[in-house]
Amino acid sequence: MAFELACAFSDVPEDEALAVTIGSHDVAIARHGTEVFAVQDVCSHANVALSEGEVEDCTVECWLHGSRFDLRTGKPTGLPATEPVATFPVEVRDDGVYVDTTTTLNGVTPS
Ligand code: FES
Repeated sequence: MAFELACAFSDVPEDEALAVTIGSHDVAIARHGTEVFAVQDVCSHANVALSEGEVEDCTVECWLHGSRFDLRTGKPTGLPATEPVATFPVEVRDDGVYVDTTTTLNGVTPS
């Protein structure tokens, strides 16, 4: 485990994701209430940043074709994307959001 500081909790908007780079990974940080999630910041359907889409009901939407990805599982909830995106472990300590990009929660290898 190698948690790195990604951002401040107060920097994460309620209805959109925050794009950060951790090591060699582009990561989208998003929240659902006080829960914080980190997913690979690229759609599994094409090379589009998920952080540019809306966050709602614990999903992030890809703005290009409208697939939504469950922030907990990384799985798309609708077409055209069919593959999950990698989800990374997150810890919130005080106001800091820490993400470990050396492993994934859902077993998806980040591209
Ligand atoms: S690029 Fe994301 S759904 Fe097509």
